[in-house]
Amino acid sequence: MGERERDISISIQKVRHVYKGGNPAINGMSLDIHTGLFGMLGPNGAGKSTLMRIICSLLVPTEGRVIVGGHDVVKERRHVRRLLGYLPQDFNAWRLHRVEEVLGTLATLSGLENNSERRARVAEILELVGLLDVSHRKVKSLSGGMVRRLGVAQALIHDPKILIVDEPTVGLDPEERIHFRQLMAKLGKDRIIILSTHIVGDLGAGCHDLALIDRGRLEFRGSPEKLIAHAKGFVFEIHMEGNRAEPSDQYEVVSQEQKLGRTIIRVVSRMGEIPDGAVPVDNPTLEEAYLAFMASNSVKQAVKGGEVQS
Ligand SMILES: Nc1ncnc2c1ncn2[C@@H]1O[C@H](COP(=O)(O)OP(=O)(O)O)[C@@H](O)[C@H]1O
Ligand SMILES: [Mg+2]
Repeated sequence: MGERERDISISIQKVRHVYKGGNPAINGMSLDIHTGLFGMLGPNGAGKSTLMRIICSLLVPTEGRVIVGGHDVVKERRHVRRLLGYLPQDFNAWRLHRVEEVLGTLATLSGLENNSERRARVAEILELVGLLDVSHRKVKSLSGGMVRRLGVAQALIHDPKILIVDEPTVGLDPEERIHFRQLMAKLGKDRIIILSTHIVGDLGAGCHDLALIDRGRLEFRGSPEKLIAHAKGFVFEIHMEGNRAEPSDQYEVVSQEQKLGRTIIRVVSRMGEIPDGAVPVDNPTLEEAYLAFMASNSVKQAVKGGEVQS
């Protein structure tokens, strides 16, 4: 049985990473990841890209170990690289080349030297990501969503069991976002995909397992439903006269709607207290759950640090 027949997993063990002269970007993290689409959520600066670069064997952690498909990312870098494909946050493909040339070259580099095998593989990947129709076009003529899908194609050229995509939906329009979500759900059926984002909606229905990281620490791990369950009691609806929501330091407004001269806002409570005139919502969205979790978390941090007196 070859490596790819076995179910593969990633084990992150007590990882810490401190950049030269900086604060810890990853501050003691342990996490196991299995087949499927795994969401890595967190605000800017949380440590998502750092963790992904460590898993990809591009960055050696200051402390701790990461095991990918049974191989240590520091000691068995080559094995690890064969198992995974990576789409970096700042992917910008060779703009003056044609789509098929980009993939053909990468396929050659990955060891596919036979011409007809290589052509077949390139066509197969282009079909998979929905770019077969534009294979003759130059990269610079593609839309943002197409470039991102080309980024996925280049990461998949050697048919890895693990795909790591760092903030792949930044700058995409709503239609491209939907298309991208569908592609991730499809690819996640028989692979590990780790997708980082600070936009919760981009995980989509294909994601059943996620981690929430903040300031280099794992703050939550579990299903979207579990995160939503945590948010109950923190998300409210407030009906206001007039057509404008007044800002408040009690809550953060997530969405608003105008109805018959009144404004209905959905808010996340900052302190876990019920804002004046608010009605609890019993079906928070994943985005609201994320905001609620982060808000209550920063309150906890502040209390620990003595910044909040009640
Ligand atoms: N090359 C680097 N050198 C020094 N500090 C860095 C470097 N890359 C990231 N950082 C810092 O590490 C922390 C985590 O960054 P990053 O992993 O990029 O977070 P995210 O991807 O979640 O936005 C941030 O405070 C960031 O400023
Ligand atoms: Mg990042």
